[in-house]
Amino acid sequence: MGSILVTGGAGFIGSHTCLSLIEKGYEVIILDSLINSKNEVINRIKKICKANNDLLEKNLKFFKCDLREINKVEKIFSEAINGGNPIKGVIHFAGLKSVGESIKNPILYWDVNLISSINLVRVMDKFDCRNIVFSSSATLYGQSSKELLNEETEIKPINPYGTSKYGIELFLDDVFKSTSEIWSIAKLRYFNPIGAHCSGLIGENPVGIPNNIFPLLLDKTYKKKENLKIFGNDWPTIDGTGVRDYIHVMDLAEAHIKILEHITQTKNKNLNLNIGTGKGTSVLELIKIFEKTNNVKVPFEIVDRRPGDAASVVADNQLLKSTLNWLPKLSLEEMCRDGWNWKIKNPFGY
Ligand code: NAD
Ligand code: UFG
Repeated sequence: MGSILVTGGAGFIGSHTCLSLIEKGYEVIILDSLINSKNEVINRIKKICKANNDLLEKNLKFFKCDLREINKVEKIFSEAINGGNPIKGVIHFAGLKSVGESIKNPILYWDVNLISSINLVRVMDKFDCRNIVFSSSATLYGQSSKELLNEETEIKPINPYGTSKYGIELFLDDVFKSTSEIWSIAKLRYFNPIGAHCSGLIGENPVGIPNNIFPLLLDKTYKKKENLKIFGNDWPTIDGTGVRDYIHVMDLAEAHIKILEHITQTKNKNLNLNIGTGKGTSVLELIKIFEKTNNVKVPFEIVDRRPGDAASVVADNQLLKSTLNWLPKLSLEEMCRDGWNWKIKNPFGY
């Protein structure tokens, strides 16, 4: 059958996707430098697998490796062949993702994100593995004022994190164009993934101080010491607070498998796909649903707008629907329930 390589598989979205892949019967190889994740996540994935089926945990291999070390990446591909289970497809999550850090250190972002992707594609080509699903981002659309963003919306990233993602998209387009008979590529533009696996054993584990709303909301609610700062209540939105398209990380995991299967079966694809629910939720709405679902109080205060923010970022997901005949299913209540379950079981992460 062959195996699937998941770069960045120890990270937030990667760990949930690996679990879903294993549960579907895939053999999974995780390659991760652990720069933004912990080794413990591997044990947790195995633990969940074991609880469901004793045999499944054998289907996971882990290599601590930085994609910029091309020799090590080659070794992983050749060992898979020697072991009789060549890598048939790659889901490429590995990369740095902090917008603020990217503004301070663009060289690091271009180095890690772009060089890693070039190395990976070079090795894939050498080993005749040409199916790749790449983690891009809705951040590519910059500060578009459109109500719903579709894949044709103008690409205008406003920070080095976003430009590095766009650079990789362009690189993959060039690779596809030069050899369009053999590569199958999907570039997924995620909106705002939140939540966790329902076991509470894996979840988002930001290293350092988080910037995103959901891990901050969990933290402030758990510690009850400081308020969550809401960045502005004067945006042109339903209640003045920022609107985003939140998607459950388990739905996102499922989307990856469906897309990988789609591009592998139909070949000769070069897709750009938005992955979102198509439904916008404001910060105040998110807080209200979180409080009601979990019967807790979220301490918050309104502060100034954050530079670089957009009022509303919501996906037009019609292409996702027509391509896969699938849309995300899990509700905001489920995102809030599962995220809180993860937090109370792991208040300090892994
Ligand atoms: P994450 O930081 O939790 O996971 C990324 C993983 O990649 C980490 O485990 C990290 O250790 C690893 N990594 C980084 N550089 C590496 C390298 N050079 N070689 C090997 N491993 C490396 O992030 P996430 O939230 O799971 O995001 C996964 C991907 O999705 C990222 O590419 C991110 O840019 C993209 N994305 C995330 C979001 C989001 O809100 N979480 C939104 C849009 C796009
Ligand atoms: N927000 C607050 N307070 C906070 C953090 C965020 O009010 O402490 C607000 C923001 O102003 C925004 C909303 O919550 O209205 C969501 O903000 P996040 O920082 O959680 O997410 P963003 O949509 O700004 O960006 C995230 C990732 C990007 C990714 C993008 C995809 O950080 O890397 O989603 O849409 F590209």
